[in-house]
Amino acid sequence: MKQDYVAPPYRIKMVEPIKITTRGQRVKFLKEAGYNPFSLRSEDVYIDLLTDSGTGAMSHHQWAALMQGDEAYAGSRSFYKLEKTVKEITGYNYFIPAHQGRGAEQVVLPQLVTQEKRYFISNMHFDTTRAHVELAGARAIDCVVEACFDTATYHPFKGNFNLDKLTQLIEEKGAKHIAGIIMTITNNSAGGQPVSYKNMQAVRKIADKYNLKIIIDGARYAENAYFIKQREKGFTNMSIREIAKKTFDLGDIFLMSAKKDGLSNIGGLIVIKADETLYNQCRTYIVPMEGFPTYGGLTGRDMEALAVGLNEALDENYMQHRLDQVRFLGDKLQAAGVPIQHPVGGHAVFVDCKKIAPHIPFNEFPAQAVTNAVYIEAGIRPVEIGSFLLGRDPDTNENLESPLELMRLTIPRRTYTYKHLDVVAKAVIAVYKNRNNLTGLTFEYEPPVLRHFTARLKPKK
Ligand code: F0G
Repeated sequence: MKQDYVAPPYRIKMVEPIKITTRGQRVKFLKEAGYNPFSLRSEDVYIDLLTDSGTGAMSHHQWAALMQGDEAYAGSRSFYKLEKTVKEITGYNYFIPAHQGRGAEQVVLPQLVTQEKRYFISNMHFDTTRAHVELAGARAIDCVVEACFDTATYHPFKGNFNLDKLTQLIEEKGAKHIAGIIMTITNNSAGGQPVSYKNMQAVRKIADKYNLKIIIDGARYAENAYFIKQREKGFTNMSIREIAKKTFDLGDIFLMSAKKDGLSNIGGLIVIKADETLYNQCRTYIVPMEGFPTYGGLTGRDMEALAVGLNEALDENYMQHRLDQVRFLGDKLQAAGVPIQHPVGGHAVFVDCKKIAPHIPFNEFPAQAVTNAVYIEAGIRPVEIGSFLLGRDPDTNENLESPLELMRLTIPRRTYTYKHLDVVAKAVIAVYKNRNNLTGLTFEYEPPVLRHFTARLKPKK
């Protein structure tokens, strides 16, 4: 087990002041926000760990690139620069930009659904991916290894597909009814957990046997490649760029929220290996949804910054520090006995709130209760990944019970210091010690889709 944590391979050139608040203020802010941290004003947050999506710091190379943005509506020079980068990294033939990951999803996923093809199988669907599958009239089935749900036991690749179950599901639903296999790397919903190369290779074999398409949902593909390098036999001497390329060789379509491993504040990618018909369909469909196919909702300067960021995320010194920051926070929490998804994943520490608040039932959202307490404690904003996020069954409208009730402490890229993470650890440990006083929550307002973003809650009396 590695003990030390590397120092950042960058220095600070510009700072953004953040506000210190009092406990009394935070109690009031949270009440006004309907006990849902998504509704807090960010200026009332001291350390914002809501997401690693679009919240990272750009490099001076990226800021310089912004100045070169070509804002032409059609055929922008910046598009061609981004296209070249994307094709070099993936080895795929066709590229269309989108404004972010869900923009890519809304364009591509409906093209794969027909009357007959109405199921997607994934190791785990991210929530917007699930939403777009359902909006397209299909159903999303998760098929991850059981180890993923056992937060206490070490497994190097908790994002892996359960291969037996995958075959079984395809047989059961009938291959002709499967619209595609979605490989989410890393597996965000279970803790930023990686998927091994060997597992992905086996999924490819199964896909070939049944003539199915593989869609790589690769928001954090570079982090996944680094875990493969660290944990999987035979990859130690390969660069993460080479490992990523081998990963892309296993897929047919690559959808990316470039707000993560694109090291940019906005952006999405639709990349298609060889299916020209699908590419042409997406090019047609993207116009009314996102914009003309050479900008897809992005400005020229966004595309410039992204072209630089995609390469920076494949720098191994950057990546080592990034993952060490996450490991640092995880180690601190574990040393104090706080139950977390072990080992920690790539972009966040996931705290197991089912174990912290077993007295709160799933439909009173134990992880949301812990999340809110951490905000009150020190102005830190984590996010719930549990039954509150999971929502209701689209067929029965019953509240779904998530197998895990997690609080995600998501680390933005190149943004906070180890000392900030010390503050986070201290706050979470304080909440953990007071865990018996946590109470559940009920709805004051519940929107019909993606409820966790805008719902209002109140504490259960
Ligand atoms: N796929 C994965 C695996 C994601 O983690 C996300 C976003 C998306 C797709 C959608 O991309 O946000 O650019 O539209 N995850 C963010 C998060 C929101 O906080 O984990 P997007």
